[in-house]
Amino acid sequence: MSLLQVTDLKKNFGKENAVRGLTFQLEQGKCVALLGPNGAGKTTTLRMLAGLLEPSSGGIIFNEQQGVTDYRKWLGYLPQNPTFYGWMSGQEYIRFVAGLSGMEQKEIGRRTEAVLEKVGLQDAAKRRISGYSGGMKQRLGFAQALVHEPKLLILDEPVSALDPIGRREVINLLREIRQETTVLFSTHVLHDAEEICDDILVMAKGRLAEQGSLSSLREKHRQPLVIVQVERERDALTWLDSLKSKPYVILADIKADIAELTVHDLGSARDDLMREATEKRIPLVRFEAGSSSLEDMFVKVVSEQ
Ligand SMILES: Nc1ncnc2c1ncn2[C@@H]1O[C@H](COP(=O)(O)OP(=O)(O)OP(=O)(O)O)[C@@H](O)[C@H]1O
Ligand SMILES: [Mg+2]
Repeated sequence: MSLLQVTDLKKNFGKENAVRGLTFQLEQGKCVALLGPNGAGKTTTLRMLAGLLEPSSGGIIFNEQQGVTDYRKWLGYLPQNPTFYGWMSGQEYIRFVAGLSGMEQKEIGRRTEAVLEKVGLQDAAKRRISGYSGGMKQRLGFAQALVHEPKLLILDEPVSALDPIGRREVINLLREIRQETTVLFSTHVLHDAEEICDDILVMAKGRLAEQGSLSSLREKHRQPLVIVQVERERDALTWLDSLKSKPYVILADIKADIAELTVHDLGSARDDLMREATEKRIPLVRFEAGSSSLEDMFVKVVSEQ
């Protein structure tokens, strides 16, 4: 079932077209990463989905309920740079947020306790937030977003600002949460998405450059690739540079002594390159035949910015 149906969503800030027409669906129960470099439009998109920013045009349908425009009570949202009242304790803060969501007093106590336990802050619940580490603050942010048991959790760069330990804590927490709640989170790191997600949406310059399941996109972007490295001698470097005009080369990325060649047919490319390198006595340092990865696709999308 589709939890969120987004159609041709756009946002302009004056002349700046931050989001230029996004169309996608979010299936219930999935964990989806919104990937993109700085300025791609991730925060703008998430803020529109969270009901915090009015779209310039386009449609958002939540839970297949046509005509329902305010679905915020079913959403949990963690902003890119959350701010807390440092003088409050974690427990006071979550109780405060739960109260704002209109929960009954009895429920507030029960849910606050449950959610602090879920994010692993039960022992720190009575301590002031100003003394929390970055990872603890981010986990408190999760607690705040989850306290009213939302159907969809939207997280804007939940791990970007954390050190490796905090990052690990939050990734593990996300892995648990995704068992129960549909999650959409933004990141500029493909690796984060690969660790926990089913699907990815890749944004660049306000548009979707790619979308689909990780496995289908891996398959789609797998192309034969040959990497050749030579010693830094004039003749060898000239030969390396000449490879870009080989008929079987689709794409050549040649940086000084290393060439990455995307090719049509791995077998014939390998045979031809090895034969020529031997005939011309090219001092090879490395010769690798494999396939390009999702990482290559992502780097390409980002570098086309
Ligand atoms: N309130 C605003 N007024 C004017 N321009 C804005 C505003 N908010 C965002 N933009 C512009 O919209 C574009 C997309 O910004 P956005 O913050 O959505 O990107 P992002 O993908 O979240 O980037 P980052 O990875 O740096 O968080 C940028 O060019 C930004 O300058
Ligand atoms: Mg952002």
